[in-house]
Amino acid sequence: MRILVTGGAGFIGSEYVRGLLGGQLDGSGEHTVTVYDKLTYSGNLANLAP
Ligand SMILES: NC(=O)c1ccc[n+]([C@@H]2O[C@H](COP(=O)([O-])OP(=O)(O)OC[C@H]3O[C@@H](n4cnc5c(N)ncnc54)[C@H](O)[C@@H]3O)[C@@H](O)[C@H]2O)c1
Repeated sequence: MRILVTGGAGFIGSEYVRGLLGGQLDGSGEHTVTVYDKLTYSGNLANLAP
């Protein structure tokens, strides 16, 4: 599935992205995930490093 996550570099968004790609949410981990994030003070690309 192709999934767009807004705010994906933030606290909750990055946890969601890691869960999707790691298969913790549906067991597959077979997704293409695109993050759209304004990178405000609370956005941090390091959250997505894993
Ligand atoms: N260590 C912790 O316990 C911790 C850390 C961070 C946040 N929190 C808490 O988690 C709760 C919410 O976290 P969250 O992840 O919902 O919020 P967040 O503020 O952590 O992340 C929001 C994300 O959305 C992005 N964003 C903001 N406006 C945007 C726009 N117009 N377009 C695209 N992207 C945009 C920001 O850059 C950021 O990456 C809060 O209560 C916060 O205090 C806890």
